[in-house]
Amino acid sequence: MNVQSAEPDRDCALCPRLVAFRRANQEKHPAFFNGAVPSFGSGGARLLIIGLAPGLKGANQTGRPFTGDFAGDLLYETLDAFGFSRGRYDARPDDGLELHDCMVTNAVRCVPPQNKPVGAEITQCRPFLRARIDAQTNLKAMVALGRIAHETVLRTLGLKLSAFKFAHGAMHDTGHGMLFDSYHCSRYNTNTRRLTPEMFRDVFAKVSAHLAEDG
Ligand code: URA
Repeated sequence: MNVQSAEPDRDCALCPRLVAFRRANQEKHPAFFNGAVPSFGSGGARLLIIGLAPGLKGANQTGRPFTGDFAGDLLYETLDAFGFSRGRYDARPDDGLELHDCMVTNAVRCVPPQNKPVGAEITQCRPFLRARIDAQTNLKAMVALGRIAHETVLRTLGLKLSAFKFAHGAMHDTGHGMLFDSYHCSRYNTNTRRLTPEMFRDVFAKVSAHLAEDG
């Protein structure tokens, strides 16, 4: 029986381009984590947040999703505001932050060049997301950060993309928990005000309301 793991090995060798990029980063930044970044949070969490991929000097440096880059500042501040974390986020994996009823993962677990995974890498990494979703035994809600995360969740669940259109603030009943869409909390999106902190909080307000209905 082939039991798919929800977390790739740190030195996962499935994507040649990402392995080559990792090797180059190991040379250039030997103190960085430089590996497949594991999900952060608890397997019993009702909320799963899906990002795109580790940032070179964020998660790829620290080994924890969204930790150490701009996107993490808004994400962890918002999770704190809605009670999905305990402790203070300090952009370090040893800051003592704990997630509460929440897990954060990425569609692609290894840092891609220019922050852009290619289609083959997204497909290759999908079984890990599927296993992550299956392992979340209390799953009630997912937040997709950006269109790629949204489409990856749909493909992972075998759902038609045309039936669930990506839109910031949209909610989709996937049959595996409600999927909430948000623009990615990247520096670019926040600097251009495509995504404001208020818009981001509005998504998490909907998530909280949904989880509260669930009891
Ligand atoms: N860091 C992550 O871990 N994921 C993203 O999508 C962006 C930054």
